[in-house]
Amino acid sequence: GQVGKDGYRHYMEKELHEHPVAIGQTLQRITDPASKRIALPDMPFDIAKVPRITITACGSAFYAGMVGRYWLESLARIPVEIDVASELRYRDPPQPDRGVALLISQSGETADTLGVLRSLKKAGQSIVSVLNVEHSTMGRESDLVLGMVAGPEISVASTKAFTAQLSVLAAFSIDFARARGKIDQAKEEALTSSLLDLPSRAAEVFACTPAIQAMAAVVAEARDVLYLGRGICTPIAYEGALKLKEISYIHAEAYAAGELKHGPISLIDRTVPVVAIVPSNILFEKTLSNLQEAKARGGRVLAFTDAAGAERLKGVAEHVVVLPDVDAFVVPILYAIPVQMLAYEVALLKGTDVDQPRNLAKSVTVE
Ligand code: AGP
Repeated sequence: GQVGKDGYRHYMEKELHEHPVAIGQTLQRITDPASKRIALPDMPFDIAKVPRITITACGSAFYAGMVGRYWLESLARIPVEIDVASELRYRDPPQPDRGVALLISQSGETADTLGVLRSLKKAGQSIVSVLNVEHSTMGRESDLVLGMVAGPEISVASTKAFTAQLSVLAAFSIDFARARGKIDQAKEEALTSSLLDLPSRAAEVFACTPAIQAMAAVVAEARDVLYLGRGICTPIAYEGALKLKEISYIHAEAYAAGELKHGPISLIDRTVPVVAIVPSNILFEKTLSNLQEAKARGGRVLAFTDAAGAERLKGVAEHVVVLPDVDAFVVPILYAIPVQMLAYEVALLKGTDVDQPRNLAKSVTVE
């Protein structure tokens, strides 16, 4: 049936507000209510014997996959190959025996991702798809579908599907880590409870709207914007830059913050705001010094951080959005929300067609 906007100005605004529900419903489906443990469907292969996982997707779904790589490598200690589908399709990398391909797609119809699905299947890989639309072409052709429960996503710019994808990937990583004996029960419980706590923390993010609007006023004046993150937050910087480009038509570039001094720092002056995704995790100090370098060149630093980070960023960041404290494991899921909200607020200031940006289709079914 028809999905309404429920009083919101755009589908995107409505779908941003559905992040907590999308994360919550998705996790509910894959958590055993009695034991509160992650309970994914049985995999059609022996997890302990998987030599490598190949992750592929396009656009935002690819950035979710990049976060998934961090989790799978660091928690489950499994090698991961990752590339955008349009590249992987023509690279023809060697595929290992018993290898698993993990495909991520909101629509399940994206031509590039579907193309990779078919070629990896031919190459003998087990196909696991993370999909919002489970009754889709990719759904039919996969060995296993891990469904997100994000509900219909109408706005061209992906929002809640992204955090739902991340929720599935986080659970998948816990499942793999457990099956491969890489985490003990206490660690598993800590990771799982930080995930299950997320819907409540995500709901708190909307209280940051005024701070995000203040940031948006700076970004809306710019022609070019640089997004920086490090480690597991680098993909969130990519997601922020993509979303800004898509709906506000402002040029944005995302970089791993450590790469700043290897080139992009030459771009920085007062007219190029730097949006930093900088939670106080193990890489905070490193990112902080990257931001100090940007500030020293006249850059205007706008930071997404937490209370402790905000304290340390005084005198460096011109605007901060202070997010709830969460376990480092779930930081990328939480931080994706305000980063997408920033793009939305900028688009409002620019007066663009938020839900139907020019030149874009919701589902790209041609190569
Ligand atoms: C995200 O905002 C985009 N509209 C786009 O990058 C999208 O994520 C990409 O086209 C993949 O779509 P899919 O998830 O349906 O495969």
